[in-house]
Amino acid sequence: MAATRANVIFSENVRKLQPSATIAVSTLAKELRAAGRDIINLSAGEPDFPTPGFISKAGIAAIERGATRYTPAAGLPEVRAAAARFLARPANPELDAGGVVVTAGAKQALFNALFTLTGPGDRVLVPTPYWTSYPELVRLARAEPVFLAGPESRGYKVGPEELEEAWDPSVRALLMNSPSNPSGAVYTLAELEAVARWAADRDVWIISDEIYGRLWYEGEVAPGLLDLDPALAEQAVVINGASKTFAMTGWRIGFSYSVPSLAAKMAALQSHMTSNAATPSQHAVLAALSPSSEERAELDAMVTAFRSRRDLVVSLLGELMPHAAFVKPEGAFYLFFRVDDHYNDQHAGSIALCQHLIQEAGVALVPGEAFGDDRYVRLSFAASDQDLENGMRRVAEALS
Ligand SMILES: Cc1ncc(COP(=O)(O)O)c(C=O)c1O
Repeated sequence: MAATRANVIFSENVRKLQPSATIAVSTLAKELRAAGRDIINLSAGEPDFPTPGFISKAGIAAIERGATRYTPAAGLPEVRAAAARFLARPANPELDAGGVVVTAGAKQALFNALFTLTGPGDRVLVPTPYWTSYPELVRLARAEPVFLAGPESRGYKVGPEELEEAWDPSVRALLMNSPSNPSGAVYTLAELEAVARWAADRDVWIISDEIYGRLWYEGEVAPGLLDLDPALAEQAVVINGASKTFAMTGWRIGFSYSVPSLAAKMAALQSHMTSNAATPSQHAVLAALSPSSEERAELDAMVTAFRSRRDLVVSLLGELMPHAAFVKPEGAFYLFFRVDDHYNDQHAGSIALCQHLIQEAGVALVPGEAFGDDRYVRLSFAASDQDLENGMRRVAEALS
């Protein structure tokens, strides 16, 4: 093998880039499993269901009929139109398909938005707890994340008061996520409206990650930016995608909606980076976005399963760890609960505690450190009822 230079000088673009704080824990989980230990994995960030058959078949059919070439960078016109219909809400019933950019996962849509709207000297407000990639995505755009949090009693959701306190004239955007990964908190329509009014007054863009919008346990679709008056939704980029709603994480399809001039610039950026999202995946998502009533029932069954698991984990937490503070998950598939009263000299933070829980209880959770709040851990309920029950009993025992 050719020798490599020992000291690579990294560019300013990535000098501060950190690998995810979850890696130490997931590496340990893998090592223990390889050594034959029985590990219950409650750390997954993806549905445990396979992609529904009707969606996979549409992807396979596309490959078989030769739909394997480039598409326009922003996506197939019919996929952009279907995504626009999927995102439309009574307050914004006719969305322009020219505002949709189809991406390789919601992650690329987030990158496109941040890189296109923000740059050196700009600050981006990032409410805590945040999805683990947000700070790094902001830094990749060479902007600076500014963290803020609402009160614990409000599930950490932020309002105009916290936003105003964190604001200065260099703030260019606010990166929101409702339903939230990791907390499952969901902004009400009134809360979203208050945030959007504040943003409009301060001329701040909202990048609204609504990827878990259809995994909402209080109704069909969680309130989102497009439920607001069109004038308020104008200075926003709405991020959504197929990964969670349709159990399609590996197909890599996301999309964004914004005013068409911004969409065109994001598509231009993408055209120089990855071009279009994979063509067969676009055909598969087209089927997912326009299901028959029978196919819709298959999708609804996943939401029903997640809702019943949400009820199970909340009731188990109350029974097994009645003193643990937690955010009641109204959406997504995570339970975020506090463990800092179990910290001691051996495990002084969430990473060490999660390592201890894997070793002692054989259960993998994600440390809150990865989401900007070291007092917590995240349990994913994208797992079977049996694993959830056994896993939570083991965790409670190890902590007692
Ligand atoms: C809040 C949030 N946004 C975006 C993503 C990325 O989604 P995708 O796999 O479509 O890139 C995830 C995945 O975990 C997520 O939890």
